[in-house]
Amino acid sequence: MILAIAPVAVAAKESAVNLLEAEALLKTGWWGDSSATATNISAHCQWSGIVCNDAGSVTEILLPNCRIYDELKIFSFSSFPNLVRLDLSRNELYGAIPHQIGALSKLTYLDLSSNRLEGELPSSLGNLTQLAQLDVSLNWIDSLIPPGIENLTNLVTLDLSQNSFGGPIPSTLGQLSNLDSLDLSNNHFNGTIPLTLFNLTNLSRLYIHSNPSMGGFLPKEIGNLKSLIQLDLSYSGFSGSIPPTLFNLTNLSRLYIHSNPAMGGFLPKEIGNLKSLVELDINGLNLSGALPSALCRLTKLASLSGAENQIYGSIPSEIGNLKILEYLNLGSNRLIGQIPPTLGNLSALVNLNLSSNQISGSIPLGLFDIPSLRFLDLSSNQLTGSIPTQFGDDIFKSEGHLLTLNLSHNILSGTVPSSFMLLGELLGDIDLSYNALEGELPCKLVIQFGSERFVGNPHLRHDSTLCGVSPPVMGNHTPVIVGNHRHRTLYYIIGLGVTLLVFAITGGLVIYIRCFKKVKVELMDNKHGDIFRIWNYDGHMAYEDIIKATNDFDVCYCIGTGGYGSVYRARLPSGKVVALKKLHRLEGENPNFDKSFRNEADMLSKIRHRNIVKLFGFCLHKRCMFLIYEYMDRGSLFCILRDETEAVELDWIKRVNLIKGIASALSYLHYDCDPPIIHRDVSSNNILLNSQLEATLSDFGTARILELDSSNQTVIAGTFGYMAPELAYTMVVTEKSDVYSFGVVVLETLFGKHPQDFLSSFSSQPNEPILLKDLLDARLPPPTNPLVVRNVVLATALALDCVNANPKCRPTMQQVVNRFEEGRREPTRPLHTIAVNQLVSPPELSLPDQTYTVV
Ligand SMILES: *[C@@H]1O[C@H](CO)[C@@H](O)[C@H](O)[C@H]1NC(C)=O
Ligand SMILES: *[C@@H]1O[C@H](CO)[C@@H](O)[C@H](O)[C@H]1NC(C)=O
Ligand SMILES: *[C@@H]1O[C@H](CO)[C@@H](O)[C@H](O)[C@H]1NC(C)=O
Ligand SMILES: *[C@@H]1O[C@H](CO)[C@@H](O)[C@H](O)[C@H]1NC(C)=O
Ligand SMILES: *[C@@H]1O[C@H](CO)[C@@H](O)[C@H](O)[C@H]1NC(C)=O
Ligand SMILES: *[C@@H]1O[C@H](CO)[C@@H](O)[C@H](O)[C@H]1NC(C)=O
Ligand SMILES: *[C@@H]1O[C@H](CO)[C@@H](O)[C@H](O)[C@H]1NC(C)=O
Ligand SMILES: *[C@@H]1O[C@H](CO)[C@@H](O)[C@H](O)[C@H]1NC(C)=O
Ligand SMILES: *[C@@H]1O[C@H](CO)[C@@H](O)[C@H](O)[C@H]1NC(C)=O
Ligand SMILES: *[C@@H]1O[C@H](CO)[C@@H](O)[C@H](O)[C@H]1NC(C)=O
Repeated sequence: MILAIAPVAVAAKESAVNLLEAEALLKTGWWGDSSATATNISAHCQWSGIVCNDAGSVTEILLPNCRIYDELKIFSFSSFPNLVRLDLSRNELYGAIPHQIGALSKLTYLDLSSNRLEGELPSSLGNLTQLAQLDVSLNWIDSLIPPGIENLTNLVTLDLSQNSFGGPIPSTLGQLSNLDSLDLSNNHFNGTIPLTLFNLTNLSRLYIHSNPSMGGFLPKEIGNLKSLIQLDLSYSGFSGSIPPTLFNLTNLSRLYIHSNPAMGGFLPKEIGNLKSLVELDINGLNLSGALPSALCRLTKLASLSGAENQIYGSIPSEIGNLKILEYLNLGSNRLIGQIPPTLGNLSALVNLNLSSNQISGSIPLGLFDIPSLRFLDLSSNQLTGSIPTQFGDDIFKSEGHLLTLNLSHNILSGTVPSSFMLLGELLGDIDLSYNALEGELPCKLVIQFGSERFVGNPHLRHDSTLCGVSPPVMGNHTPVIVGNHRHRTLYYIIGLGVTLLVFAITGGLVIYIRCFKKVKVELMDNKHGDIFRIWNYDGHMAYEDIIKATNDFDVCYCIGTGGYGSVYRARLPSGKVVALKKLHRLEGENPNFDKSFRNEADMLSKIRHRNIVKLFGFCLHKRCMFLIYEYMDRGSLFCILRDETEAVELDWIKRVNLIKGIASALSYLHYDCDPPIIHRDVSSNNILLNSQLEATLSDFGTARILELDSSNQTVIAGTFGYMAPELAYTMVVTEKSDVYSFGVVVLETLFGKHPQDFLSSFSSQPNEPILLKDLLDARLPPPTNPLVVRNVVLATALALDCVNANPKCRPTMQQVVNRFEEGRREPTRPLHTIAVNQLVSPPELSLPDQTYTVV
């Protein structure tokens, strides 16, 4: 009897739960039209972003970047007893995180990052003991870390960065023994790092930087964090010297302690133990003592920054061992002696800065043989001798890449080499002022750089009536019109100081990218003194129009949140609608976000392709950071595929066109741009569609120009689920990681959902004959037109090659585009006979790998 009743009771309870869940989802209004179709109690399981278990109860709600603009409290947490994953990141949620969130007792994954949540982090979070990942970064939360957090012992990732958390870091965090990554950066924590934190021996990433009120000595216990790979303690108030135990952390690859002015001491020879170091940043620490030659054993080092300390003695000649070093800044120290000639052995060097020291002797000839060198600052030293004449010839050989050269405030003699004249526009900027140069100065140089770049050389003559006092004239190839001479060129170092990218705000030089069609540039220095620039736009657009159209960026006009800022919709007086991306309040103050924003402006202003989002202009100023884009009405591919109605509207022909368009955009970035650009974050979130459902690639915040970065090393960027597997163990960027992400997006487009499950079963059982027709998005009738079938089959086959675990076996985007072209002529079999395992290229037939040359 009892046995017979029990299942009925359970079923009744289940359906009551399901009904409650459906109602709770409906009430949010987040599913718009699909809610109207809620005719039975399990229909909501089919809604976009919802995953249910077999009993029809909701286990996952995944709505990242879906333009949700609501208070989080309208979400009825208590209605979802079985919820395991909740992702509402990158929306415009506001208000406090409700206490009721503590009801989600099965939750393992909670991502509320990049919203406008404020107030307290509720202590009821302590109820969520199954949580493995908790991310509330990029909000406006201004509470203490609540008690109860120590109960989250399953946490692997905890990200509280970019908020206004205050008070001390609680010592109870030390109980989260499974933590792998802890990010507390960019907050207002105060006090010292609690000793218990150093019990977290599984931590591989620890970021506490940009908490200016934190301080105290770094304790010797830091040496317990044996698994650390990245440690960032910069921009804080730490004092004392670097504890020697830190040098036991031999797996450290990136160590940032810079900008802690109260620190001091010296760099011991044990620094040589940190054999995995790729980047070492110890700027502005008041370090004294000499540079230990053991530093030169760190042969993986790509960036070494030790400027603004009290380091004395000479530069060890063993520095020539750091063969892949790209960035070396020892400026503003007390270095003496000569520049070691072995510096000329650093063949990957991009930026060398030894300014403001007491270095003497002559400039070693070898320095000018470094083909990659772009920035050379040897100013304010006691250098003697002449400027090597072969200098100009070598720059000329390196094909017109910018060089910024500052040799001012030395005792250099002789003439300005005549080869300088040939260089013309190839030099970015040059400063030879305050030396002992003599002879005739070519007019061309004065006109180009301004006479102030040569003053203080009593015996250097130029005919001032001939040369005039005209402001510098830029080369014809620069797409930017010179603005105010006062701030002539501004340079930004992009990407951890490793990638160097020149960016000009008001004139100056921009790296010339060949694929860039020349466009008209209007520069306006509006009455606020803001920097506002518009181009390639039919009709007039003024700064004031934009402010008016958005009511000075009122939230009402906000339509979503991207990785780095909010997106607004603005209707201009002309009737034209544009999208504006504006940095979040706190992001604007963060140099990293600022960099990423400028990076996007810089990249997009130089490229034109019908499948790449169009940038109309930008405003780059502390008080008005925004980019102006073409408005893409239909939002992201991600959201469209998760909406029943829109997914059906995106039929097979449109999907194939979308795939071809994105392939063409990536091929353009990789092969038609010189230097090539790697997007690094290709995902369905970053593919936007217009009213005709035509696709463009967007979000160039992490894109990189490959050329200036000869070691190809970088921080990991990208979206989980789209990142190439090799990025887990190598930090080397190639275009093949874009190819992988593209493959994932193609499968997602064809299957109607992320291919994660398919990919894992496919890699474990590659010979399983799964029919393609069973994988295709079932919301659309299967394609029947032979041409469309052929394209769908071809796209699947190419995508499978693209997601090959071995980057070398993936085709290039150029090959993908060509295959689509050739594919038109290939016959195809009926769809229902095709199994995916037959589509994979056998290894011996796979496309040859085209080596990608990095200049
Ligand atoms: C409820 O809706 C789902 C999805 O639309 C459908 O698969 C199912 O058959 C429906 N059940 C009933 C009892 O109508
Ligand atoms: C936290 O869990 C306890 C026990 O499971 C429960 O009684 C309480 O209601 C939960 N708190 C919240 C806010 O849901
Ligand atoms: C944390 O767990 C302990 C032991 O299970 C319990 O006594 C305490 O109430 C919990 N704290 C919170 C805030 O949930
Ligand atoms: C730390 O911050 C808390 C909360 O903002 C404040 O009450 C406390 O006085 C601060 N302590 C110190 C030493 O500044
Ligand atoms: C250091 O890295 C190596 C290689 O990745 C790894 O095998 C080792 O376990 C790491 N050591 C620690 C203490 O994590
Ligand atoms: C760690 O460093 C300290 C000081 O440099 C040293 O005495 C100690 O032996 C090291 N411990 C290990 C395990 O290497
Ligand atoms: C060189 O370093 C000094 C000290 O850090 C800095 O002031 C200067 O701007 C740097 N030069 C260049 C060209 O970046
Ligand atoms: C390094 O530079 C020195 C001095 O210029 C030169 O004699 C030596 O051959 C170079 N070594 C290598 C390995 O290039
Ligand atoms: C060159 O360096 C000097 C002193 O270090 C500095 O004052 C000057 O502004 C620099 N010139 C340029 C063009 O940056
Ligand atoms: C950068 O990558 C390219 C190919 O992707 C490779 O040929 C080159 O050697 C790499 N450069 C370095 C310094 O590793």
